[in-house]
Amino acid sequence: MKKIVIILSVTAGAIAFATSFNSCKPSEAITAKSGAQIWGETCIRCHNTPSPDTFSDVEWDVAAMHMQIRANLTADEIEKVTKYLKSAN
Ligand code: HEC
Repeated sequence: MKKIVIILSVTAGAIAFATSFNSCKPSEAITAKSGAQIWGETCIRCHNTPSPDTFSDVEWDVAAMHMQIRANLTADEIEKVTKYLKSAN
C-alpha cells in the first residue's frame, strides 16, 4: 500500500511539473496568429478599434506600449499588431 502511495505522488508531481513547465510557452494557436488577427480580436474588447490610418508610426509605438499592458499581450503579439498597423497607415 505504501508503495502505491509513493508511486502515485511521484506521478502527480511529474504531471504538475510538466504542466507548469508547459504553461510558460504561448500556445501554437496564439503564436500562429497574424498582427491583423490579434488586432481584430483584441483591440475591440474595450473600445472601437482605431483604424490603422488614425495614427502615425511614432504615435502607434506609443499607443502600443500602453495597450500591450492594457490588453495583456506578449511582446511578440504587440510587435505583430504594431507592424500591421504601421503597414496600413
Ligand atoms: C483592457 C482594455 C483595452 C484593450 C484590450 C485595448 N485598449 Fe486601447 N485603450 C483602453 C483604455 C482604457 C484607453 C484610454 C486611455 C488609456 O488608458 O491609455 C485606451 C486608449 C487607446 C488609444 C488612444 C485613443 C485616442 O484616441 O487617443 C489607442 C490608439 C488604443 N487604445 C489602441 C488600442 C489597440 C491598438 C489595442 C489592441 C492591441 C487596444 N487599444 C486594446 C483600453 C484597452
